[in-house]
Amino acid sequence: MRFITLLIISLLLVIVFGCEDKTQLLFNQPAHFPNLLIPENNPLTQKKVDLGERLFGDKNLSIDSTIMCSSCHKAHLALADSLSISPGVYGRLGERNSPSLINAAYAPLINRDGGVAKLDIQALIPIEDHNEMGISILKLSKRLIQDQSYVDAFGEAFGRGPDGFTIPRALASYVRSLVDASTPYDKYLGGQKDSLSPAAQRGLHLFNSEELACSSCHSGPLLTSFEFENNGLYTDYADRGRALISLREDDVGKFRIPSLRNVALTAPYMHDGSLATLDDVIAHYASGGQSHKNKSHLLKGFSLSADQHLDLLAFLEALTSERDFTKS
Ligand code: HEC
Ligand code: HEC
Repeated sequence: MRFITLLIISLLLVIVFGCEDKTQLLFNQPAHFPNLLIPENNPLTQKKVDLGERLFGDKNLSIDSTIMCSSCHKAHLALADSLSISPGVYGRLGERNSPSLINAAYAPLINRDGGVAKLDIQALIPIEDHNEMGISILKLSKRLIQDQSYVDAFGEAFGRGPDGFTIPRALASYVRSLVDASTPYDKYLGGQKDSLSPAAQRGLHLFNSEELACSSCHSGPLLTSFEFENNGLYTDYADRGRALISLREDDVGKFRIPSLRNVALTAPYMHDGSLATLDDVIAHYASGGQSHKNKSHLLKGFSLSADQHLDLLAFLEALTSERDFTKS
């Protein structure tokens, strides 16, 4: 009886509010993940996600209509890119490697240096950046208003047209839909111990060991604490990382610790894409890295047998999502 009453109430709610899509998306929060905080002024709805996905793959978001978000964040590469530096409009190059956007919604500060405070405004950066899409948000809004199907879709999702408020919030909603816990490692954490091969289980053990200390930084279910650290890539950093934002000398060469989810798909590695393979990454950590006054004391170097090296690789490979991001 109670159930039927609830059902009738929900149906009425859908009839009353359904058309404006004010209903909160039934967000599939993985039980072992932290709570994803969604801003009150931008509730997550399927219409926003769909609109964001359409914008994400639209070249009209760049000044010369050649570059879309997915030019640099490719669905078959966990929303990252295989180039060290992805070209933007007119072949212009920025300075950093395109990161994966899977679970990017969890980052408390956006970008590798934490320079953007909110995901809801993040998209304004690549849209307006001279080296990325190179178009002002005003010009882009005027462009999208020419297309009635966009005007309708924005109206249904936000109750207003495409503008500097709604465009980045639609894109942020799409990024929030990329929360994912479909890796063999997640099944393992859920109790299915045989979803990791014996080699990957030994690799996990190494990953968590005091000697390698990977899990001190790449910690928890997201494989990152989101802190900023210097992992000894250079003695002299061309990109000062976190220090560009904080202006503190002790932040030089510190970058946000990346999640290692889907790391087998996101080569090349590090903020500048300077390490080509996971073998190179392991060799880097085994060496202890370059000396730098800000280098974390956790990087002491270690030595692995050839088998242990393969075990660690097997664990990193078990962090690949089974969900196919090329399909929405
Ligand atoms: C020319 C390549 C390029 C294009 C085009 C591009 N991005 Fe990016 N994206 C990057 C790079 C490089 C970074 C890292 C920037 C940094 O750390 O300073 C990044 C970072 C991000 C982040 C932050 C990820 C995190 O973990 O902090 C998000 C979200 C994102 N991009 C979404 C988008 C959206 C949405 C668009 C389209 C409006 C877009 N990108 C277009 C290259 C690109
Ligand atoms: C002191 C903290 C710290 C420790 C310990 C650490 N890392 Fe990292 N790791 C980082 C930071 C910071 C970056 C990003 C550096 C950059 O962007 O240049 C990173 C980057 C990476 C990347 C590249 C990811 C990408 O998408 O580009 C991989 C892979 C990686 N680490 C694996 C490991 C493994 C395996 C271990 C253990 C052997 C380990 N890390 C230990 C902090 C750490």
